[in-house]
Amino acid sequence: MSPDPLAEFRRVVSIRARQFPEQWEASKKLIEGAAFPSTFARLCEAIQRTDLLVSVKETLVCLFERSVPRRVQDLDGECLKSVTGLPPAKALRALAIFFELVPAAAAKWPVAHVSSEEVETIVRSLDNPFDLLRRTDVASVLEIGAGDLSFAEELVDLYGSDLTQHHRPFVIHCLDRLDPRSQLGGPLHANPERQQKLQRMEGLSFSFFGNQDMFELGDLDRRELLAPRYTIATCWAPATPTFAYEPTRLSEALIRNELERTKGVFHQTRFGKEHALEVRHAGRALLFPPWKFEIVGPLALLRLLARRGLLCVLGSVDGQVFWELLAQLLEEPRYRPPDQTFSPVNLPMIFGEVYTALAGLSIGESIDLAEVAALRRHYLRSDASPSMDGVADHFRYVRISRGATFPGIPVSSTARKFASMTEEAPPWFITLVPA
Ligand SMILES: C[S@@+](CC[C@H](N)C(=O)[O-])C[C@H]1O[C@@H](n2cnc3c(N)ncnc32)[C@H](O)[C@@H]1O
Repeated sequence: MSPDPLAEFRRVVSIRARQFPEQWEASKKLIEGAAFPSTFARLCEAIQRTDLLVSVKETLVCLFERSVPRRVQDLDGECLKSVTGLPPAKALRALAIFFELVPAAAAKWPVAHVSSEEVETIVRSLDNPFDLLRRTDVASVLEIGAGDLSFAEELVDLYGSDLTQHHRPFVIHCLDRLDPRSQLGGPLHANPERQQKLQRMEGLSFSFFGNQDMFELGDLDRRELLAPRYTIATCWAPATPTFAYEPTRLSEALIRNELERTKGVFHQTRFGKEHALEVRHAGRALLFPPWKFEIVGPLALLRLLARRGLLCVLGSVDGQVFWELLAQLLEEPRYRPPDQTFSPVNLPMIFGEVYTALAGLSIGESIDLAEVAALRRHYLRSDASPSMDGVADHFRYVRISRGATFPGIPVSSTARKFASMTEEAPPWFITLVPA
């Protein structure tokens, strides 16, 4: 006796659903509120184009050709059970896995299908680089050093409802090294109400990782809590002095002298039960998290952003971090003089025509850096990963804009503060496309 085709189909569907727990978990998102109609439409399409035994196909076509339901509960539960052996929600998830709506590899977080050439073309046509989120199949953002999460909130306010309406996945992952339990760090702590609001938002997959060093992502990656690559990787007001001195061109002794000269003498101490850094400045003792004066430099930051984002955006970059970072982006070694700190006096000499072009920018204006000087090539892969495929090794497009806030562009709380501090030099906004 030949086996009942429906019984055989049920068996295979249930084996596949149990085979990969991560895919099973990921399939849950596909049937939730905003994602449901597009999942239903993709299933209809997959059923039409897949070769199946006639009786199985007929049953499935009949089930899916009815008018588009709004929720799982609106589907014919009995019929779903006859093809999958499962109750409606689980049945739909199992079918989504069977028809490969959840990719087998990197099942957890979708990555946008767009080449770096396409990203460049799109971004060149946009005043607001974050609008790339409207143009790719996946809208995902990684924010490093996220502070109080106000940028994430502005991002969601701007794009959330549009992406939800179009049933597009919207993923925002934020992280910050500040330990949420720490008494230090003041207003930079993730705002708990904002965090909860973002976590509860329908159609948005939001996570915040506190006490998380951006250069120690191995554990989050192993647990698949981060996507391998995001549509946009962003950092707002990159920390000083962490990114203000580049250790590949400045010696440790010089950096220490500079820190003591400009910030004051410092040492590790305790604040209650916590470790802390004490800095003596203008006759006062200031306390910071213990890692505040760990110097990493902008090259490591650029490498991290390029590895994680199809597009990278740095907002509200202060003058000191900016020139050190710019030196890394340009081809000629003369922009990276060994063991010489940058100062208002030597910047015009070291950066020459680049300095003139940038100093001439008014607030809100931009330049395409490659039009002023050659962009550096082959430097983003660190020595540890020289042969890794798909890892960017330079930026193909760099746009530099002057100012803290820009019309229609979501920004962080530090950027908003900059805008009202008229005695501070305006910061920089940098859009980079890795190649
Ligand atoms: C100047 S604040 C900017 C905060 C926020 N992005 C904004 O613009 O308002 C720099 C932030 O980077 C975080 N940070 C510094 N070093 C970090 C690291 N290695 N990993 C993750 N976050 C870091 C700090 O805790 C701080 O919240």
